[in-house]
Amino acid sequence: MTVRATLAGPWSTDHSAALYRRAQQSITDGTSRATLLRKGHPIYVDHGEGAWVTDVDGNRYLDCNNNFASIIVGHADPAIGAAVQARMARGTAFSLPNDAEIELAELLCGRVESFDLIRFCNSGTEAVMGVLKAARAYTGRPNVIKVEGAYHGTYDHAEASQSPDPTNWGDAAAPATVRYAVGTPVSVEDEVGIISFNDAEGARTAIRRGGDRLAAVLLDVMPNRVGMPAIDPEFIAAIRETTREVGALFVLDEVISFRLGYGGAQTKLGIDPDLTSLAKIIGGGFPVGAIAGREGPMSMFTRVSGDRAKVPSSGTFAANPISMTAGHAAMAQLDREAFARLDKIGEEVRTGLRPIFDGAGLDWQVTGAGSLFRVHPHNRTIRNYRDSHLSSDEATEITEFGLRMQAHGVYFIAESLGCLNLATSDDDVDHFLAAAEASLPSP
Ligand SMILES: Cc1ncc(COP(=O)(O)O)c(C=O)c1O
Repeated sequence: MTVRATLAGPWSTDHSAALYRRAQQSITDGTSRATLLRKGHPIYVDHGEGAWVTDVDGNRYLDCNNNFASIIVGHADPAIGAAVQARMARGTAFSLPNDAEIELAELLCGRVESFDLIRFCNSGTEAVMGVLKAARAYTGRPNVIKVEGAYHGTYDHAEASQSPDPTNWGDAAAPATVRYAVGTPVSVEDEVGIISFNDAEGARTAIRRGGDRLAAVLLDVMPNRVGMPAIDPEFIAAIRETTREVGALFVLDEVISFRLGYGGAQTKLGIDPDLTSLAKIIGGGFPVGAIAGREGPMSMFTRVSGDRAKVPSSGTFAANPISMTAGHAAMAQLDREAFARLDKIGEEVRTGLRPIFDGAGLDWQVTGAGSLFRVHPHNRTIRNYRDSHLSSDEATEITEFGLRMQAHGVYFIAESLGCLNLATSDDDVDHFLAAAEASLPSP
């Protein structure tokens, strides 16, 4: 295995550093995205092509984050580019609906059994907010349950307990609800119940306790911040059965997991949710979100009298023709063969990393499925958020591993998720593994 020459001379990021100094003069924290802040300064992109990105200093990196799992075909994909340019020549945003919205809706509803109807918005955060509002309206109930540690965007209820720690997470059998942003209304503590990932019995108990005040259980089947452990079928069954028993909805957040298969993770795992939130890959690299599901709960978005729906939902850029066109051009390329290729390269990365960790005498492990993976600097069995929660030494170790990967020509935010796109070649996989080997700490 050889590391492909990727860097323009000795690794320098001076131009990025200068841009970051400039950005701090006009943007809070120097960037609008907290997730892009890195030790020192973030790296500023110049352009991307296929599986690779080039920064403003001319350094090239294999992109193993793909804008937090939103790029799936590859950067600057010619088919998406051509479709978008043709559409852009006709204008970008109108207060008139467009046919591209119908085409993307038909494609998505045609692939997933539980998608009777769909409605577009602009982000995953909005989609999750929409599914929760629809669930409350449909059931006439206020409360929701979610998994400890799971990230679902920044809506008050969805972000509760997204990153608790041993000082505030409470009893493992009945985790505490920890409000996230300072200023979040205290009522969120009553309105959001927390369950532990893969704890089927805990889920049953919490859902029954929620009873006739519970509107929905929100689940991501492979949550990144929980460590991407494999989900127990029994956990899924417990949620499906008990939500039905108490008359609550089962809401799946497929903002990321939709990239796990032709019909999303739900088709692969045989799940029958009432509602699903989508975003990321369905926009083909442009801002997007969507709410999809069964006719009953989706009817909350349809007008009942005059102009008013039970859950009014709109957005100046919702279903704009550019995002819809790009999304369709991306999704149309993702046939079953494409998903098989993504599964294959993901598996090669996961299975390739294991002997590298062993060879270096490190007790590290890798989790994930399909094109997604996550590296853990420990060998604890991971079934839930608490198992994968890092000590501060482990957190430093994994962050520094990711930073060393950058110096070896791989953009991998190691403390977060790893993600491959379809343009990743077999040589690129070798490059990733060689860079990983060269970036490990000494045991
Ligand atoms: C599972 C999940 N849900 C929701 C969101 C929020 O999506 P967005 O960043 O488009 O608002 C994310 C974002 O990473 C996510 O991973």
